[in-house]
Amino acid sequence: MSRIFSGIQPSGELHIGNYLGAVKNWVALQDQFESFFCVVNYHAIIAPYAREELERRTHEMAVGLLASGLDPARCTIFVQSQVPEHTELAWIFNTVTPLGELERQTQYKDKASRQEQVMAGLLNYPVLQAADILLYRADIVPVGEDQVQHLELSRVVARNWNSRFSPATPYFPEPQPRLTATRRIVGLDGQAKMSKSIGNTVGLLETPEQIWDKLRGAVTDPTRQRKTDAGEPERCATIYQLHRAFSPAETVAEVEENCRGAKWGCIDCKKSLHQHMVAELTPIRERAAELASAPSQVTALLDAGAQKARAVAQETIGAVKDLMGLPRAV
Ligand code: TRP
Repeated sequence: MSRIFSGIQPSGELHIGNYLGAVKNWVALQDQFESFFCVVNYHAIIAPYAREELERRTHEMAVGLLASGLDPARCTIFVQSQVPEHTELAWIFNTVTPLGELERQTQYKDKASRQEQVMAGLLNYPVLQAADILLYRADIVPVGEDQVQHLELSRVVARNWNSRFSPATPYFPEPQPRLTATRRIVGLDGQAKMSKSIGNTVGLLETPEQIWDKLRGAVTDPTRQRKTDAGEPERCATIYQLHRAFSPAETVAEVEENCRGAKWGCIDCKKSLHQHMVAELTPIRERAAELASAPSQVTALLDAGAQKARAVAQETIGAVKDLMGLPRAV
């Protein structure tokens, strides 16, 4: 069975952009592949942070993932810093990663250009990501489009390491991205990608009332001024997209017809969306509340996940060290 690996930063509470763009897909994939899902807290510490914040966000992210349906009985879910082999392999990979490849990563260039002092960790971020994936020798990485370049780098790393240390039978696979169907979730402003830092999100665990408040203010087809004007769903970046993600096909067809025919106003359309979102999100919110009330149980699940991950990680690191002439840990 092929292995998949994916990671998510501990940004705290998940929003529906993360959920539709990544996590929902992971939940479906956990039964098709041997799956590893990781809260990547070592990636998160590249930006300055407050200690308690990071701990809280890491725990909250785990709660969100479990509540969304990642099941520790069907996949391995864990926190990156609990498996020290990630950083160990990252160091090894630093020795086979050309500097030029790192310097031309668009995410690096973007972030570095906005900082006065750039830390080495920002440049080496994709090397750690390659280590995350290859530590489990995963062939498939379910991610969004923004990670395609990082995955290319992971393949360069695998290829370079293989050609030096296991040329006859490549030890590492070259991992391929598997893009989610809903690639880019537009925020409530109808413009930017849904993102916590922009503040245009709907939280995955928000109550029906909170969700309604958010939807009510969301931007729709900007050319539709009055209810009697015909609308165009394709110009309604947010609400139409969410209908396609949350509502059954009949409802989506109804939305298209009633919008183009000016039979529904945008509020009618939002009410229909609200109903379908609440139906899908309520069980998740309830599971999250249960998990949040039992933090030590969540910690125990994560510890067990880390142990499972570590068994695989130690095997890989052992084989890597053998092939490189480095004594194994004792
Ligand atoms: N860079 C990814 C992101 O920002 C997170 C990540 C870290 C990741 N390690 C990974 C994703 C390994 C997939 C595989 O979304």
